[in-house]
Amino acid sequence: MKDADPMQLRLLAAEAVAREAGALARRRFLDSSFKVAFKGPQDYLTEVDGETEELIAARLHAAFPHDGFIGEETAGRPIREGGAVWVVDPIDGTSNFARGVPHFCVSIACVLEGAIEVGVIYDPVRDELFAARRGGGAFLNGAPIKPSEATSLANSAVEVGWNMRAGVSKYLDLLRRVALWGAAPFRTGSGALGIAYVAAGRRDGFVEHHINAWDCLAAVLIVKEAGGYVSDFLAGEGLAKGNPIIACAPGIKDALVSAVEIEGIVL
Ligand code: IPD
Repeated sequence: MKDADPMQLRLLAAEAVAREAGALARRRFLDSSFKVAFKGPQDYLTEVDGETEELIAARLHAAFPHDGFIGEETAGRPIREGGAVWVVDPIDGTSNFARGVPHFCVSIACVLEGAIEVGVIYDPVRDELFAARRGGGAFLNGAPIKPSEATSLANSAVEVGWNMRAGVSKYLDLLRRVALWGAAPFRTGSGALGIAYVAAGRRDGFVEHHINAWDCLAAVLIVKEAGGYVSDFLAGEGLAKGNPIIACAPGIKDALVSAVEIEGIVL
């Protein structure tokens, strides 16, 4: 029998683990008995983030004991030179989750030698699974997806991600630029879903001054594989420290890049 393809196994595992973790998060969201705390100003943390990450880490470790692990909530496992690394956000959209807003997801990516090989995002409230493997296309619940055919910012919907890391004036400038060039600005509180929605043509673009790898890596691959444009997120120290991001439909790439003028972004 031919050996199983190791990345295909990781894609299948990520899909199964994202569904299981999503079911746990959904159950806890619906019974709303969890405690909510803050890691810093406006930076929510619920006990479900930790529970969900533990489940994901345990399942992936059991299946791939030599892989590294970077999670939003834990220090993770050692990363081997040249080995595969899982990059996980157990609940992206924690501020929504904590406040009873049903817009959050589990995000799981696998990186090998500087390339995102697998990206899976599961929204357990809508039962939507976005998945991609490098070179294999992007899918929503098994059906191929593609970005919108937008060619002008004037008819575009662009999510402007917000966090306390980049600072208020940078955020306001980004928002101003998006609106000034005629796009409709949105903010929904989940970077992973916001970027995945670009892949599925539900939004035309997503921009943010700083986002962490666990929030966006899976979505970055999903957009690329769907045929969209994404800036080089892994440039420099993107994996460890995060980077700015632009993700969009290919027809508005030049217009959006020049409208937002994000400093330090690698295109
Ligand atoms: C945040 C969300 C938000 C994005 C921030 C992230 P969290 O992640 O993805 O949309 O704008 O950059 O920090 O705290 O919900 O996991």
